[in-house]
Amino acid sequence: MEIIIKVNAEAAGLLAAGLIAEKIRTNPKTVLGLATGGTPLPVYEELVRLYRQENLDFSSVTTFNLDEYVGLGGEDANSYCRFMWENLFNHINIAPERVHIPNGLAEDMEAHCLEYEDRIQQAGGIDLQLLGIGANGHIGFNEPNSSFASRTRVVNLAPETVKANRRFFPAEEDVPRRAVTMGIGTILESRSCLLLAAGENKAEALAAALEAPVSSSVPASALQSHPRTTVICDRAAAAKLRNRLKNESA
Ligand code: F6R
Repeated sequence: MEIIIKVNAEAAGLLAAGLIAEKIRTNPKTVLGLATGGTPLPVYEELVRLYRQENLDFSSVTTFNLDEYVGLGGEDANSYCRFMWENLFNHINIAPERVHIPNGLAEDMEAHCLEYEDRIQQAGGIDLQLLGIGANGHIGFNEPNSSFASRTRVVNLAPETVKANRRFFPAEEDVPRRAVTMGIGTILESRSCLLLAAGENKAEALAAALEAPVSSSVPASALQSHPRTTVICDRAAAAKLRNRLKNESA
């Protein structure tokens, strides 16, 4: 596992976007796994810039998002679908039919989750999965004690996740309590993973994920067993890594 520490969140995002762009330039049909939340925003901003100014071509790229809130439609201001269109897809030349985001309003959720997994398979699997990390160590919405073999499914959000996501909603009771998420098993099947972390509130989770023994109480620690994972974090998120000096770069 390669761990790269950058000076701040913007620098970390720039590097992550650069790696994604390199993948797309090498293979225009790249299948990307994407995340939402605050951490990937600098990544998406830079990908849009690369599209506009440096001819980065998304026309053959396929994407699969990690997760969506159950109960929110794609048009809802707080849905991850809306987030992705507003922050990335509306601004690049991606083909809408190659964009995949779990449907939080699917009538038959179980069938929808199976279909989502099938679609990933049909696309040839995910080449590069972008991930954030929750302060409780979650990846996607795989909360602590999720099985490392888990697949796309409906989950209950941990109370600390509901609190963390409160900032996007008018009131705490408006935050959805359930989400549909790719499983840890689904994530581990990606050919490569790119975990991005920024901010001091991620320092403890990152250290537990990278430097403590693998444990289902820290879902991101599952990545220790993934042969091709790159971690990019800022100094604040790296603050509790004991091996940080070995990895630091400007
Ligand atoms: C979002 C996702 C989550 C977030 C995590 C960190 O699609 O899967 O695991 O990556 O909650 O969120 P931020 O970046 O907002 O701190």
